[in-house]
Amino acid sequence: MPAPAAHHQLVQLSDTHILSPGRLLDGRVDTAAALRAAVQHIKALTPVPAGVLLTGDLVDAGSPASYAHLRQLLEPLTLPVWLMVGNHDHREALQAAFPEHRYLIDPQARRFIQYTVNLPNMRLVALDTVVPGAGHGALCAQRLDWLEHTLAEEPDKTTLLAMHHPPFRTHIGHMDAMGLLEGRDEFIRIVSRHHQIERIICGHIHRSVQCRLAHTVAMTVPSTAHQIALEVGESRGSYTLEPPAMGLHVWRAGPDLVTHLLPIGDYPGPFAFD
Ligand SMILES: [Fe+2]
Ligand SMILES: [Fe+2]
Repeated sequence: MPAPAAHHQLVQLSDTHILSPGRLLDGRVDTAAALRAAVQHIKALTPVPAGVLLTGDLVDAGSPASYAHLRQLLEPLTLPVWLMVGNHDHREALQAAFPEHRYLIDPQARRFIQYTVNLPNMRLVALDTVVPGAGHGALCAQRLDWLEHTLAEEPDKTTLLAMHHPPFRTHIGHMDAMGLLEGRDEFIRIVSRHHQIERIICGHIHRSVQCRLAHTVAMTVPSTAHQIALEVGESRGSYTLEPPAMGLHVWRAGPDLVTHLLPIGDYPGPFAFD
């Protein structure tokens, strides 16, 4: 009898918002300690994940010192790591800080940081939604063309599509005001034509949110550090220190993909059932 297919896992961290060493976000949140805890948690996961994807807002203000700090904090990870940009990032500073991450400079992607990764029985497509200097996201014709072309290359390979700004409204007023404001309708038309997209995985919202989008499911994961307070409707925006979490995407063949949300930190247990 053939051995059962192995399980594969991809860890998704988001919105790490690293500052230069010794600084706290808003004078209160130790984003570096939060990422250290996430890294330790990942190192204990079994089976060993195929890699770790960070879905943007890697640092808080795009400075070279903060990217150097991020690099140092990620160093204990012996797994492949893939980095994406969010609205707090600076493309060139990121590329300069991680020169061996060759995928960050892809001539096909022009000036954007978007790329593909071949995982076991799964293709990862990372899409750049950033507008330099702005909080909201956009998909211009160039990026949408790249997406259409990239998806058309591998129509039969189960695909995880990753982007910082989610392509849906969350009903949290101030976050929707800085959501994906341009190119969304065309993006949905493209997704509708590519049934190999099993999940659209995003950050930016600092909360866990899921939404149907065409034939697939789009979702965001919490931040490793601070969370956006859940204020439905009009909101001015505030944050909380609710538990941080990571996304754990798990599959064997590909279309059997499921996503677990795994709180980061020490909690009592596990306790065996009698
Ligand atoms: Fe963020
Ligand atoms: Fe963001």
